[in-house]
Amino acid sequence: MRFVFLGPPGVGKGTQAARFSERHKLPHIATGDLLRVAMKEETSVGLKAKSFIENGRLVPDEVIIALMEDRIQAPDAKSGYILDGFPRTIAQAKALSEILTRNGVALDCVFYFSLGDETLMERIVGRRTCPDCHAIYHVSYHPPEKEGLCHCGGILFQRKDDVPETVAERLAVYKNETSPLITYYKNENILTEINADQSIDRIAENLQKMV
Ligand code: AP5
Repeated sequence: MRFVFLGPPGVGKGTQAARFSERHKLPHIATGDLLRVAMKEETSVGLKAKSFIENGRLVPDEVIIALMEDRIQAPDAKSGYILDGFPRTIAQAKALSEILTRNGVALDCVFYFSLGDETLMERIVGRRTCPDCHAIYHVSYHPPEKEGLCHCGGILFQRKDDVPETVAERLAVYKNETSPLITYYKNENILTEINADQSIDRIAENLQKMV
């Protein structure tokens, strides 16, 4: 099974993808996580991506496509995956389609998570992330058991791009460059919209009913 989780920053794609991945035993492939690890390890991809991420812009298509082409053809992704944060431009969607065709497979569904800007901002600025296992928390909506600490023992941090000015830029970039994918996938008849203005558990239940 191959899924794309599409939607604006902060809508809850990562939160839902982590649960869905556990339930369906599918690898959760999140471009943001891959890029943040690359930045931490100062690889060539990380060095290329750093300033784009910190300024809320998209990393150039050629960097992302090369990264994802390798990742989705890795042995653990042979029978499927959840793509979280990819594709994010029409060029990336076309590249994905070519890779899938070359491998003789197709996407099963693109889940599009929708939510208003005000709630997105609130979710993002309250987010805390684990640097070790990438678990996602929220100071009010999904707090850790012990303040500041992940269940794995990692020390939670606030992402540099989760400050209001950068979030505003990310939302604008989403509208201009990523939201055209809604029509793109609608035209391919594989888009399913999910109302993300509900609790984490309720959204997970809804997703479950759709597969
Ligand atoms: P990335 O890491 O992918 O960020 P994003 O898409 O902006 O998405 P987020 O991680 O902000 O949000 P999310 O939807 O996963 O929400 P989450 O579950 O965390 O990308 C970062 C950067 O990398 C980009 O800006 C770009 O520079 C670069 N990049 C990545 N992919 C790229 C690509 N393909 N091409 C080019 N550049 C790329 O939830 C958010 C918060 O809300 C959390 O605190 C969570 O606990 C809380 N929450 C979740 N669901 C609910 C709910 N139902 N109710 C209440 N709170 C909730």
